[in-house]
Formats: sequence, structure tokens, C-alpha cells
Amino acid sequence: MLDVSRGRVRSRAKGRQSSLGERGQWTEQGAIPDKTSDSALSADLSAAGLSKLLSRAYAKAPFKQRLMAWGRPWIAPVEAVLAEIPPNSRQLDMGCGVGFLLLLSSNLRRAGPVTGVDVDKAGLELARGVLREHAPGRRKPHLCTLQEWNAAPQSGFDVVTMVDVMHHVPWTQRQGFLKDLFGRVRPGGLFIYKDIAQKPRWAAIANFLHDLILTGERVRLSPVADIEAVAAQCGMRLTKSSKLFRLWYCHELRVFERA
Ligand SMILES: C[S@@+](CC[C@H](N)C(=O)[O-])C[C@H]1O[C@@H](n2cnc3c(N)ncnc32)[C@H](O)[C@@H]1O
Repeated sequence: MLDVSRGRVRSRAKGRQSSLGERGQWTEQGAIPDKTSDSALSADLSAAGLSKLLSRAYAKAPFKQRLMAWGRPWIAPVEAVLAEIPPNSRQLDMGCGVGFLLLLSSNLRRAGPVTGVDVDKAGLELARGVLREHAPGRRKPHLCTLQEWNAAPQSGFDVVTMVDVMHHVPWTQRQGFLKDLFGRVRPGGLFIYKDIAQKPRWAAIANFLHDLILTGERVRLSPVADIEAVAAQCGMRLTKSSKLFRLWYCHELRVFERA
């Protein structure tokens, strides 16, 4: 359990504190979490703690992104996704948006080097600035548009994450998109998938309205069974399957390991 006050995150169990330091880096007992320290990995972050950290990191962002930074951990199980990312992973985040997950995994899972891909150039620009300021001292993140990625894709990632992206990908491209991403994972590496659940129906409707209001998109959800079927065809072994609720949103989290 975490007790967040005035920008500090206290892990009661371990008596440690995390905070954003003077230069904006996350510090734990005054030291920037790095690959030689286990302190970052032991930070026990709740939705409240992650919301506080993201709010501080995106404090200079436009209002909509600041609101999303504050609200994201309350409506999506960000901590459950983070927990599945092995420490020190070379990570690809497909559909990274403004970089919430890459920022958290860089600091709290010591991920790096990290790669983020998105179709939204403005989002990538914001991610670049925030990672530069709040995840310094690590190998420079590689952030690029989907078009740039498709021209020069990379492989051999320890972990590939895709959070709330599949329902935005054009329907007829989804299978090929997924298969290609599975191929980007190194043997023994992980593919972490999180998307909105199709069932219960009321939760799917709540999300449909959320996307309609925020993006103007009429999204169509992929049944998670379809994702599992494509994964199985590609030799990806399902190692974790959970359905998680946050407010009126319902999420499907799946972790696959490449044989
Ligand atoms: C709901 S946001 C999630 C952002 C981020 N993954 C997160 O969890 O904060 C969906 C993201 O997917 C991106 N996106 C949409 N279609 C995409 C595609 N075909 N390839 C990559 N990213 C895409 C959007 O630009 C947006 O940033």
C-alpha cells in the first residue's frame, strides 16, 4: 500500500520513499533509480501513486494530456501491465501515445533501451520531451511513427507491449498487425496485450462512448479469443489471462511467451 502526499510515494511495507527530485528525475531515498539499484523495482505503486507520478511528469503538457496523465491509472490497470514487464527489458511499446507506459517502465522496471511507435506525431513529440526530462541517464529512447517503423522495423525485443491500441487498428489489418508484432519478440520474450473487454456488454458500451467522446471514433473491439487464437497459431504460449475492472471499464490482460 502506498501513501501519497505532496508528491512523495511511501511504501509502508519497506519504509522507502519515492519522489520527483529537483531536476524532475524520480528519486528513491534521494537516488535516481538505476540499473545498479533495486529500489525502483521494489516501489509498490498503487493507482494513486502512479497517477501522482504521471501528473508531475506531464505537469507542463496541454490540459487534455494532463487530465489523461492523472486519470489513466484510475481507469486502466497500468500497474498490472507494469508488473508483467521483466526488469531491464528492451521494450517496444506499440501505440505508445504520449509515453505513459514507457516513462513508468523506464523508471520503475528499469526498461531500456525503449522503443515507442504511434501514428500520432504530436503524441510522440510530447513523449520524447517527457522521457528526456524524466527518464534521463538511460539509453536514448527510440520514438517513431508507424510509417517510419514499417520502413525499418526492429526485432529481438525482450518485451512488446500493446495497451488499448488494437481497437483502433483498422479491422482488416488486425491479424497481420498482431502476427508481425509477435515476430518482433525474441525467443523466450513476452508479448503483453491489454485491451478493453467485449464482455460484459455494458462495460463495452461505456468504453464505446468514452472513445466516441474523446476521439470521435466508433471503435470495434476484437474478441480476446481471436487474439489468443492468432497467438497460438504463431507459437505464442499464453502465460497469463486476467479480466480487470476499473470504475465502469473492463479490461482484458494477456501475457504470451514466445517459444
Ligand atoms: C487509447 S490510446 C493508448 C495509448 C497508450 N498505449 C496508453 O496506454 O497510454 C491508443 C493509441 O494507439 C494509437 N494508434 C492508433 N492506431 C494505431 C496504429 N495502427 N498503430 C499504432 N498506433 C496506433 C493512437 O494514436 C493512440 O496513441
